[in-house]
Amino acid sequence: MSQGDNAQALKNGALIAFPTETVYGLGGDASNEKAVARIYEVKGRPQDHPLILHIASIDDIGYWTEEISEYAMALARSFWPGPMTLIFKRSENAKDFVTGGQNTVGLRVPDHTLALGLLQECKKIGVNAIAAPSANRFGHVSPTTAAAVREEISTYLSVQDLILDGGPAQVGLESTIIDCTGDSPKILRPGAITQEMIEEATGMQVSKDINPDIRVSGSLEKHYAPNAQILLDVQASAGQGFIAPSEVATPQGAIRLASPSNTDEYARTLYSALRDGDSQGLTTIAVIQPSGDGLAIAIRDRLMRASKGR
Ligand code: TXA
Ligand code: MG
Repeated sequence: MSQGDNAQALKNGALIAFPTETVYGLGGDASNEKAVARIYEVKGRPQDHPLILHIASIDDIGYWTEEISEYAMALARSFWPGPMTLIFKRSENAKDFVTGGQNTVGLRVPDHTLALGLLQECKKIGVNAIAAPSANRFGHVSPTTAAAVREEISTYLSVQDLILDGGPAQVGLESTIIDCTGDSPKILRPGAITQEMIEEATGMQVSKDINPDIRVSGSLEKHYAPNAQILLDVQASAGQGFIAPSEVATPQGAIRLASPSNTDEYARTLYSALRDGDSQGLTTIAVIQPSGDGLAIAIRDRLMRASKGR
């Protein structure tokens, strides 16, 4: 099917799982209440957790938002298309059914030709955003390949729904989420757009206040979890899975699942390594975490949550 056909299917209420540079998303027309309800059903996700709206370009911010601060525009100009979600005060076009009843809306322009092509075709026929959470069941590891999407959700999809294959995700971890509703930007979920990059682009310090009104399911303690139990920063015993930077040798009898030689590669391969452990039926995976700042912070954030189990 052409991207035009895919866009038409979305407009008719189908769900389309699609690749982005971060992870695969499970998309539906953000203005179609029934389609959005099906996203929640397929994911098994509670209704009060908001979805990210994927838009074709910076020009589409205004349709969904009430107020856009200068620093938010600076972020959008610097990092879109890219692995960054911005939270704004919503306009009346962003309905409760997609924002989880919050008065804010999360927007992102993904950096993937298939996703952008689909978004552009959608826009031509009046679909102004694709609402899409990561295409996994609630609480599980996000999918970074089309095969992982099929494994997670294909049994919950209907005949009209589609899964697009755009190869393995290039970043491998979910987008940085930045709250842009306050006087200065605040990181709600760390990702490939780092604190230093945000401060450089805005000329502002990132705020450390906690906003108790904002709910982010990705910041729940238990999340991003495989079936196997994750042990952090210990050596694996024989028969256990092992993920560690390439310079760390594999302990005798352990099953090496990944040996990334830098932080980018660590992020890109982590989720598929966790899935690999599950498909081999491993009950325990020991992980030596990456050190340092930048993307390593996001990797440790996800691993900490994964280690809390399901
Ligand atoms: O990289 C990504 O962000 C991927 C790809 C598909 O774009 N999407 C993704 O979506 O990770 P999801 O739904 O799995 O995680 C999005 C997070 C959730 O924790 C949700 O609570 C938060 O974004 N979020 C969405 N809208 C929000 C809002 N208005 N206020 C606060 N948090 C919001
Ligand atoms: Mg998710």
